[in-house]
Amino acid sequence: MQSARNINGQASAPIPNVLIEVEYLSRVISTRSRNVQILDDLTFVIPVQSLFAINGPSGSGKSTLLNMLTGIDRPSSGRVLFAGQELRAMQEDALARWRGRHVGIVFQFFQLIPTLTALENVLLALELGGGGGRKRREWHQRATFCLELAHVKELAHRLPSELSGGEQQRVAIARAIANDPPVIVADEPTGNLDSRTAHQVFETLASLTQHGKTVIYVTHDRDLAACSTERIDLRDGRIASAHPDSKLLVEGDASCTL
Ligand SMILES: Nc1ncnc2c1ncn2[C@@H]1O[C@H](COP(=O)(O)OP(=O)(O)OP(=O)(O)O)[C@@H](O)[C@H]1O
Ligand SMILES: [Mg+2]
Repeated sequence: MQSARNINGQASAPIPNVLIEVEYLSRVISTRSRNVQILDDLTFVIPVQSLFAINGPSGSGKSTLLNMLTGIDRPSSGRVLFAGQELRAMQEDALARWRGRHVGIVFQFFQLIPTLTALENVLLALELGGGGGRKRREWHQRATFCLELAHVKELAHRLPSELSGGEQQRVAIARAIANDPPVIVADEPTGNLDSRTAHQVFETLASLTQHGKTVIYVTHDRDLAACSTERIDLRDGRIASAHPDSKLLVEGDASCTL
């Protein structure tokens, strides 16, 4: 693991079993009339291979926080360390390259390319991400494997318009893991699905932790939040509660009925 220089120029050693450290993170946005504090002094860690939920009502800062964790947005103060490396210290182009290698993103509205089949959508991700270190001749096999993990291998040659919402989101999950990033982030990944399909797609997302992935998901659904291994609840940009021991995804768990 790489260590980095912190704000004071001191090297920071990664904490064992912790992938992401968030320290005193704040985000203030200046509008014409005033400064708006969107995130206020957040400190927490995301363990390696966790199923980590960011929960909270609309407007509480969930998406803003997710954008900080992936380096899409930068903190006003505080910092995010990824395996000991401070994201804020990276230049924009280095950060974009880093994101391509380390983060797979699943969107609420799937965002598949409509003119490409399921398989081609995953192959495109490999093309854009450099194949995650794999040789080009292995990409087809890799894409098929990712579709299989997401339970849509048999739909490989269909266009998005020929797939249900749940199937499209599974293809999007396959696309997110194509380049084998250690982290998958998902902002309301089931927000556009009926509750039965939502739970099935969520199970697929959650199962990625068994393949070594850390899965971070935003949800305002209390049932889905209860399935996390770790969770923070945001209210008005602050951590209202944190649940390091929240329920594991186990069959028969009353508070995690998928
Ligand atoms: N560029 C901006 N300028 C001003 N306010 C903003 C900006 N971006 C976000 N906000 C405000 O910050 C707060 C948090 O926004 P955010 O999108 O993170 O919420 P959220 O928890 O993801 O909500 P939702 O569940 O509706 O997606 C909201 O009150 C929002 O209006
Ligand atoms: Mg949001």
